[in-house]
Amino acid sequence: MLETPVLGVETSCDETAAAVVCGRRVLSNVVASQADLHHRYGGVVPELAARRHVERLAAVVDEALDRAGVDVPDLAGVAVTCGPGLVSALSVGVAFAKAFSLAAGKPLVGVNHLEGHIYANVLAHGPFPLPALALVVSGAHTDLLWIPEYGRYRVLGRTRDDAAGEAFDKAARAMGLGYPGGPAIDRLSEEGDPTRVPLPEPLASEDGYDFSFSGLKTAVLRALQETPPPALADLASAFQRAAVAHLVRRTVRAAEHFRPACLLLGGGVAANRALREALGRQAQRLGLPLWLPPPWLCTDNAAMIACAGAFHLARGERAGLDLGAWADLPWEDGGPPQDRSSAAV
Ligand code: KG4
Ligand code: ZN
Repeated sequence: MLETPVLGVETSCDETAAAVVCGRRVLSNVVASQADLHHRYGGVVPELAARRHVERLAAVVDEALDRAGVDVPDLAGVAVTCGPGLVSALSVGVAFAKAFSLAAGKPLVGVNHLEGHIYANVLAHGPFPLPALALVVSGAHTDLLWIPEYGRYRVLGRTRDDAAGEAFDKAARAMGLGYPGGPAIDRLSEEGDPTRVPLPEPLASEDGYDFSFSGLKTAVLRALQETPPPALADLASAFQRAAVAHLVRRTVRAAEHFRPACLLLGGGVAANRALREALGRQAQRLGLPLWLPPPWLCTDNAAMIACAGAFHLARGERAGLDLGAWADLPWEDGGPPQDRSSAAV
């Protein structure tokens, strides 16, 4: 692992974030959440998110460097999320990181946001054993990945409609619980009885590793229209139990078939207590090590981006000043387009 500090910059959605990471040490991790800004709309408004990044990013980066006690000349480079995400929001971070790299004379590297979620595990626990099976569950993605070696990914399954986090957010909005919905449902579930509201298991009769959450969301909307409607805590609890069971069942099926050396969980939904517990039980049954980031590294942050960036920098990869911002960034390409031929730092 690179033992020189790396600056990470993350603006893919509604968190303006910067961090300095040195090896596995998080020297600083600043996250300016915009949840207050988007709360009243029940979801993220891209143009508002981008404008807030423009206003806040320079101060957030300053604070990250300050708190880390690291001077710009001591940095090994700057790593920036360049996709997938909201292009207008990503562009703010990418443009900032290019200017920073040019002014500081430091190498630039583009990072796939979802790869960052996987590297939250490296930050928390060190390098993971290979081959690994990873479940990445965020607000916009639900991907089951096979990782034969570092930096190489094969998609085994993904959602066919809503992402897991999106389903939590939409169900919470229908229940009037506000945004972001995942933590609200996680909390309220504790008080409910999941057996009081029967919900269908998605793709129950299908083999394979794909996911689907739109049916669950529709079932929640339908339940709310019944007279009398179910208690919100029971509905939240039933929804969470069904969503978690679906995620765990597909992941266990892949683990039994492919026999990885470890199981990795990442993304905002990885903070969900029921999911962590259920996967933990199954991993133990299978005798598989389960790697979970601590909750503060599950939701969006720049420390995980700096950590993934350090890995790419150490391999000699560099992005040019033509680095773009992408709404989608396919896993199979092995990450953002950058020059892989430069000498290692
Ligand atoms: O990874 P993330 O912070 O941002 C994206 O890359 O999308 O994930 C955000 C998603 C949101 O949908 C949020 O509701 C969900 O993660 N989330 C949770 C929990 N904490 C955050 N979902 C379920 N349970 C939680 N405790
Ligand atoms: Zn994320």
